[in-house]
Amino acid sequence: AQITYIEAHGQTCTVDLPEGWNLMQGAIANGIEGILGECGGSCACATCHCYVDESHLPDLAEPSQTELDMLEHVAAERRPNSRLACQIKATARLDGLILRLPAAQE
Ligand code: FES
Repeated sequence: AQITYIEAHGQTCTVDLPEGWNLMQGAIANGIEGILGECGGSCACATCHCYVDESHLPDLAEPSQTELDMLEHVAAERRPNSRLACQIKATARLDGLILRLPAAQE
């Protein structure tokens, strides 16, 4: 799926992620700096916080309770479209998804 990451300072990067990769992995593998992913994707650090473009929110699976709990600990402002990138898996359905990254992850 083609995913576009927009960093807090405006730099935009569109990458093509293999099916099943999570969006934190995709950011790290492509040198996108606005996502840290310190826990390696186990939903335990909240340093992969991102804002999902509203138009794609309905395409995402609902966040798990663990993800909702971790979203309480994000460094930047939590918004209604806040998600943890490691908990979103790339699928064809997400093609064209836009993620905006916060200015701080810790
Ligand atoms: Fe740690 Fe997503 S990488 S919560």
